[in-house]
Amino acid sequence: MRGNARLTLLFSQETIATRVRELGGQISRDYMGHEILLVGVLKGAFVFLADLMRTLQVTAQVQFVRLASYGTGTTSGGHVHLTQDLEGSMVGRHVLVVEDILDSGLTLSVLLQQLRAREPASLKLCVLLNKRIRRRYEITPDYVGFDVPDDFVVGYGIDYAECYRQLPDIYALTIPAPRS
Ligand code: IMP
Ligand code: MG
Repeated sequence: MRGNARLTLLFSQETIATRVRELGGQISRDYMGHEILLVGVLKGAFVFLADLMRTLQVTAQVQFVRLASYGTGTTSGGHVHLTQDLEGSMVGRHVLVVEDILDSGLTLSVLLQQLRAREPASLKLCVLLNKRIRRRYEITPDYVGFDVPDDFVVGYGIDYAECYRQLPDIYALTIPAPRS
């Protein structure tokens, strides 16, 4: 906890581990006989991706992309661009994008559009947390860890101002407004 920020537990590390194993099982069944290319979205998805990858029973390769969106505070802005791109060709590959949070859907709609243009054999989306209520862009994830309400969440790789990524559990963060 930093300053007077308050953390409320949403998902314990045990709950997360169980759900990640379930997702890994489902993905392994769906892709049986195929090789997957996991595309992790930095930085928030790196912990989830590392855990998920180790539950897979199909051959998986991994790459990372980095996206920047202009905006301030706890909401993302209107422009998104890739600051770290993929290596090599996507043509004919089974691509599974792995992301921490699907919020308005802006970030992923831009990324998926760019990846689709590279002609993968298939393109699916796996998100750890789905904030369905916040959706502004039409995106339906293929795999979802947990549905979450409109809280600001941290932990398990997910940050607020680059802090809290190291926490093994997932929390809702509340920062009380300063008294005037
Ligand atoms: P979107 O483009 O609005 O869907 O925003 C998605 C991105 O915003 C996620 O990949 C996160 O990086 C970030 N984000 C959205 N909600 C939260 C949150 O509750 N905590 C931390 N980051 C968040
Ligand atoms: Mg993110």
